[in-house]
Amino acid sequence: MSMAVVTQPEETTSVVTRNRIVCFVNDELSAAALRKGLEGSNVSIKRGTIRSAIKMLETDTDLFALVTDISGIDDPFTELERLAGVCPPDVRVALIGESREITLYRELMELGLTEYLPRPLTRDMVLDQLRPKLLGDVAPASVDRGGHVISICGAQGGAGATSIAINLALQLAETTKAKVALLDLHLQGGEAAVMLGVRPGPGLRIALENPMRADTLFLERAAIEVNERVSLISADEELDAQLQITEAGVRHVLGLLRQRFNYIVVDVPVPFPPSMHPVINLSRHVLVLLEAEVTGLRNAHALRAAVTNIAGKDRVFTLLNRAGRPGGLPRAAIVKALGTEPDLVVPELGKGMTQAVNLGIPALKHVRGLRRHLAPIVREISGVGAERKAWWRRMFAL
Ligand SMILES: Nc1ncnc2c1ncn2[C@@H]1O[C@H](COP(=O)(O)OP(=O)(O)O)[C@@H](O)[C@H]1O
Ligand SMILES: [Mg+2]
Repeated sequence: MSMAVVTQPEETTSVVTRNRIVCFVNDELSAAALRKGLEGSNVSIKRGTIRSAIKMLETDTDLFALVTDISGIDDPFTELERLAGVCPPDVRVALIGESREITLYRELMELGLTEYLPRPLTRDMVLDQLRPKLLGDVAPASVDRGGHVISICGAQGGAGATSIAINLALQLAETTKAKVALLDLHLQGGEAAVMLGVRPGPGLRIALENPMRADTLFLERAAIEVNERVSLISADEELDAQLQITEAGVRHVLGLLRQRFNYIVVDVPVPFPPSMHPVINLSRHVLVLLEAEVTGLRNAHALRAAVTNIAGKDRVFTLLNRAGRPGGLPRAAIVKALGTEPDLVVPELGKGMTQAVNLGIPALKHVRGLRRHLAPIVREISGVGAERKAWWRRMFAL
């Protein structure tokens, strides 16, 4: 994908920070080699290992490339898993370590890393092998390191899609320390911004209608920081506006978000027009939300089928929200109609949920118990606690 980067004077600073390279190494020779070999670039060299890099990335991700040391680390793959969880996918990552084994090198390259070099580094190794890959215009690794897309679709209005999307985004960031985007694709009457008490601008609509005009700076303009790790990307267009949102626009915006964020939680309009298909297509998880009502059950069936048609069966998760709400259908009736148990269940959490909406604050801060009920969903998505094999799939393939 080629992107026209329009550099305007006021944007120079962010372009400069994007060229920032941070190195964590533990031996003097490698530090000196990096200093000389990367001379002239915006490089900072610190003492430390991959663990220090992870720590830094938990709060500071405004960088272009990272060089870090895995020597002395017993299980580098476990640390790399943690690194992958907090490192923006578009950051180039090079490693140095003690091993000279080609099998390790291959494994690391397959993970989408930019380079691996045995230490101690020399200036020439940095100049010949590292510098071109870190600073040059080499095509990024063919491996897909893009952020994970999670679509939230309500089978009926009021099923809780927006509430779940917002609070899931916040809890994902809190639990994994990763960068999370919350994308509300209801451009007219979208409720995520209202629930968070913020006001979106015109950026998202422009980007979705004219993908050619949206470069990475679009994010700087259109994303509203909800907190240190979570950004909201949404719109507030007039209800009578005629929007010209195209599939290409949606794909482009998602592509940009996937470079910058580890997770993208999308509040998807239902039924989805063809322009929304790329979202479903790119989703690792599609949560189909329903309430214990006849309408929800009927639509959930159709919605699951629609998602399965676009993305395949293994991506769809049925989430029964407000379970146990007075007047709702009994559990047995739901299981019968769905043909199976719901994959995830969030109980009725009472009036605090609606109060939170009216206060413009996330329910996570207001409703005790919500966090506990979202935890299994966070685990399902982030795979925290899952075995290595699962991570392998998570990190590479969609
Ligand atoms: N588990 C829950 N328990 C109680 N109230 C809930 C729950 N989930 C959502 N709500 C409430 O239901 C209403 C509709 O939720 P919302 O997220 O706007 O649904 P949707 O986006 O699907 O239309 C809101 O007032 C919200 O606070
Ligand atoms: Mg909604």
